[in-house]
Amino acid sequence: MKCAIIMAGGKGTRMKSEQPKVMCEVLFEPMINHVISTVKKMGAEDICVITGYKHEIVENYVKSLDENIKTALQEPQLGTGHAVMQARDFIEKHKGDDIVVLNGDGPMIDAETLTKAYNYHKENNNSITLISAIVEDTNGIGHIKRDKNGKLERIIEHKDATEEEKKINESNAGFYWFNGNDLLYALDRITNNNAQNEYYITDSLEILISAGKNAGAYVVENADVTLGANDRRQLNILNTLMRERINTEHMINGVDIPCTDGVMIGKDVTIGNSTRILPNTIIIGKTTIGSGCTIGPNTYIDNSSIGDDVILDNCKITDSTVESGVDCGPFVKVRANSVLKKGVHIGNFVEVKNSIVGEGTKSAHLTYIGDSDVGSNVNFGCGTVTCNYDGKNKTRCKIGDGAFIGCNTNLIAPIEVGDMAYIAAGSTITNDIPSEALSIARAKQVNKEGWVARKKPYKNQK
Ligand code: UD1
Ligand code: CA
Repeated sequence: MKCAIIMAGGKGTRMKSEQPKVMCEVLFEPMINHVISTVKKMGAEDICVITGYKHEIVENYVKSLDENIKTALQEPQLGTGHAVMQARDFIEKHKGDDIVVLNGDGPMIDAETLTKAYNYHKENNNSITLISAIVEDTNGIGHIKRDKNGKLERIIEHKDATEEEKKINESNAGFYWFNGNDLLYALDRITNNNAQNEYYITDSLEILISAGKNAGAYVVENADVTLGANDRRQLNILNTLMRERINTEHMINGVDIPCTDGVMIGKDVTIGNSTRILPNTIIIGKTTIGSGCTIGPNTYIDNSSIGDDVILDNCKITDSTVESGVDCGPFVKVRANSVLKKGVHIGNFVEVKNSIVGEGTKSAHLTYIGDSDVGSNVNFGCGTVTCNYDGKNKTRCKIGDGAFIGCNTNLIAPIEVGDMAYIAAGSTITNDIPSEALSIARAKQVNKEGWVARKKPYKNQK
């Protein structure tokens, strides 16, 4: 069985964040989320996260992702080796298993690389297999020292390296496969005799080699998967790389992205083929989009389900369902728990909240539909407002199939408008309307003939 230990105890001083470093986001998800998704995809059956700095934040977050994930507290934080020591119970339980230990601040790692490293690990009957990359910038890395025959010797942290060793451009990526028993053996022997007085997990390489065990390094082809982020500039680079990676995958799957400017798509988003994504569009959370849609420009979708052949032009859609054939925008906001049923048309400057809008209903402009249950084929005139809040409570409006709501109507909730009811423009409706009735709720018009000539109300009027 494959298991994972994710190190997430560090503070991350250089991020200048109030949050632990692993909570800093790449494509709108904390870095640790990416690492957890990857180990799950790779097949890890049991996961332990090491927390430390502001541990409650990380604990609550990982439990919100999956309550089966275990956590172990590292207090104080004395280095990566010390971090793994806190998972001793977890390792004891899995000493017959293969355990991958990962930096929580390395969100670019993918399941394919971990699996290839795992296969290499098993084929060579290794006690430890680390993942390494050839890099241009050797600043701050753990340098991989090999003998003249290329055989692994040890990992030297940049701060402990001699000038000569600092030139070694093979970098330790911070992801290691261990045999469970051998990991326990190494943990018992790691000391803090180094420049930072920290316990380094990287020392386990030399320890296991000295014990006559097999050790290997799986060198990745593309160093991007090994990148981590220690400050905001690096975070920006990771965002760019991951954005390109995800956009490319969608394009290969038949999604049309004629210009990727400002297009940011989260890792858990699925999009059908022949859907077109236009610039400045952010799609995140657990969002699914069907095929044949046009999404954007300037559209934001979070945690929503979008059907086929939907048009969303300059929209913000959150936590909602938009069924096939719906056409929204420009400048439409659909939020919290809304359902737009098939063929709904929502035009400019319309907001829908916590409402169900039935099939074929139209609201072309300047309308607020909040806390409402709207039937099918309803027509909302321009400027309709569902008055759902009395200052204390929110109540619902129910609008029957085929109703016609005249322009500038206020519907004071709670209220029920019957099927096919007809509301005169400018009405403020306070009582239920029966089906097929006409309702007029406005002051009667009075015209006073010749009044202006008699009263002369205007300045300079002769
Ligand atoms: C580490 C490696 C280095 C490698 C680099 C790759 C060690 C000693 N060095 O260095 O060889 O090239 O990653 O990015 O491991 N953490 C804890 N508790 C601690 C310290 C760290 O949980 O006491 C966690 C951090 O939250 C982070 C991860 O371990 O997620 C790595 O720690 P970091 O301090 O960033 O290590 P690097 O200096 O980058
Ligand atoms: Ca790091």
